[in-house]
Amino acid sequence: MVGRSQSDRNQLPLFLLRLLCLLPTGLPVRSGDFNRSTDNMTVRQGDTAILRCFVEDKSSKVAWLNRSGIIFAVDDKWSLDPRVELEKRSPFEYSLRIQKVDVSDEGPYICSVQTNQHTKTMQVYLIVQVPPKISNISADITVNEGSNVTLMCIAYGRPEPMITWRHLTPTARDFEGEEEFLEIQGITREQSGRYECKAANEVASADVKQVRVTVNYPPIITESNSNEATTGKQAILRCEASAVPAPDFEWYKDDTRSRRINSAQGLEIRNTGSRSVLMVANVTEEHYGNYTCVAANKLGITNTSLYLYKRVSPTKPMSSSERGSNVHYKFKVGPGTPIDNATSLAASLWLMANILLCLFCTC
Ligand SMILES: *[C@@H]1O[C@H](CO)[C@@H](O)[C@H](O)[C@H]1NC(C)=O
Ligand SMILES: *[C@@H]1O[C@H](CO)[C@@H](O)[C@H](O)[C@H]1NC(C)=O
Ligand SMILES: *[C@@H]1O[C@H](CO)[C@@H](O)[C@H](O)[C@H]1NC(C)=O
Ligand SMILES: *[C@@H]1O[C@H](CO)[C@@H](O)[C@H](O)[C@H]1NC(C)=O
Ligand SMILES: *[C@@H]1O[C@H](CO)[C@@H](O)[C@H](O)[C@H]1NC(C)=O
Ligand SMILES: *[C@@H]1O[C@H](CO)[C@@H](O)[C@H](O)[C@H]1NC(C)=O
Ligand SMILES: *[C@@H]1O[C@H](CO)[C@@H](O)[C@H](O)[C@H]1NC(C)=O
Ligand SMILES: *[C@@H]1O[C@H](CO)[C@@H](O)[C@H](O)[C@H]1NC(C)=O
Ligand SMILES: *[C@@H]1O[C@H](CO)[C@@H](O)[C@H](O)[C@H]1NC(C)=O
Repeated sequence: MVGRSQSDRNQLPLFLLRLLCLLPTGLPVRSGDFNRSTDNMTVRQGDTAILRCFVEDKSSKVAWLNRSGIIFAVDDKWSLDPRVELEKRSPFEYSLRIQKVDVSDEGPYICSVQTNQHTKTMQVYLIVQVPPKISNISADITVNEGSNVTLMCIAYGRPEPMITWRHLTPTARDFEGEEEFLEIQGITREQSGRYECKAANEVASADVKQVRVTVNYPPIITESNSNEATTGKQAILRCEASAVPAPDFEWYKDDTRSRRINSAQGLEIRNTGSRSVLMVANVTEEHYGNYTCVAANKLGITNTSLYLYKRVSPTKPMSSSERGSNVHYKFKVGPGTPIDNATSLAASLWLMANILLCLFCTC
């Protein structure tokens, strides 16, 4: 296949040269004349290519040809292309200059030199390189968790650019293989974020573009804390949920749908993205109790219960009995409330004393 095209490539210039009478028709063409090695010349698209050719004898008949025909025959320009001209910096030079080289200029170029009985040719294969360029990339998309997603990144360049994908946030993961299409099956919320497509070849620096993938998922409550408050003071209940799109919050008292809380009567609900805060400006007896925070988006709904406990705050200097009751109170507080070590130590000593006392009693 390659051999055939090589010989085809050789036949056309021969034929054209005969046509030009540059090559005497009867003259046998020796095999050595046309088995020159082909040199490659690499030029970047838009640059100027200078294909060098030198003659040994000033009286030689010279011509430049390419696959589509004769470009120059001696000093006559056959090509109509204004980008092409001869470069002759010495009487022996017969170089071809091509300005603003384009992809269509790629191919073999032959400098044919005929002296008396000899025809010598010099062939150069012009390779046109093009920097990588991403011509089309998927638009930003929003999908539901579990969907199959296909991201597209089309690039051109010469040589053909290598395409690689990278998940920038939050995993910073590189994907295997070079693919114009990145397929993600059953996408998870962790796989949301920005994806980067990179098209690279050795010609110039890589072209990089990004596509943002948003993965919707139903809310999950990530944080909710019961709280305690003193009558007459301010109280706060906080509820946080993770969801895409951002959740809408509602608050209820005693897990009763009919007791929806609105920002009124000294109560205020403040929502900021993934967080909702229920504020009681001035706590009264009926504010204590069980609250439900409901987080919802178009994919789902969830809720959690929070309790507003009553705190008995000592205002006067404490008597010993009050101090005792205070210790007692602290043990009633739910898990997660820090208990200071001194109190804990006091309590265990007290417990130990009681056990000893009991032991003595039974004796
Ligand atoms: C032509 O090719 C043959 C065989 O590959 C080689 O021996 C010979 O030197 C070549 N001739 C020229 C002028 O390159
Ligand atoms: C020219 O390029 C071709 C393909 O790119 C390659 O196979 C060949 O070896 C190169 N020739 C030279 C002389 O570099
Ligand atoms: C031959 O050269 C001309 C410039 O003279 C160019 O326009 C044309 O594309 C070339 N053809 C090939 C096959 O390289
Ligand atoms: C990009 O590709 C998409 C899908 O093949 C096509 O609909 C769109 O027209 C293309 N955009 C451009 C600028 O080529
Ligand atoms: C995702 O692709 C897998 C494998 O091709 C297929 O079994 C599944 O049904 C697809 N899921 C959706 C939601 O299209
Ligand atoms: C809280 O409410 C009580 C009873 O309604 C009232 O006496 C008190 O002044 C209020 N406190 C504040 C800070 O508004
Ligand atoms: C909270 O969720 C439970 C179980 O899903 C449900 O029975 C209850 O009605 C919900 N509460 C509210 C106030 O939506
Ligand atoms: C608050 O209400 C929820 C739902 O009815 C219930 O599961 C939870 O035990 C209640 N909490 C308290 C402290 O009563
Ligand atoms: C309280 O106890 C914990 C572990 O029992 C210890 O890490 C911490 O340093 C103690 N704090 C004080 C103030 O003694």
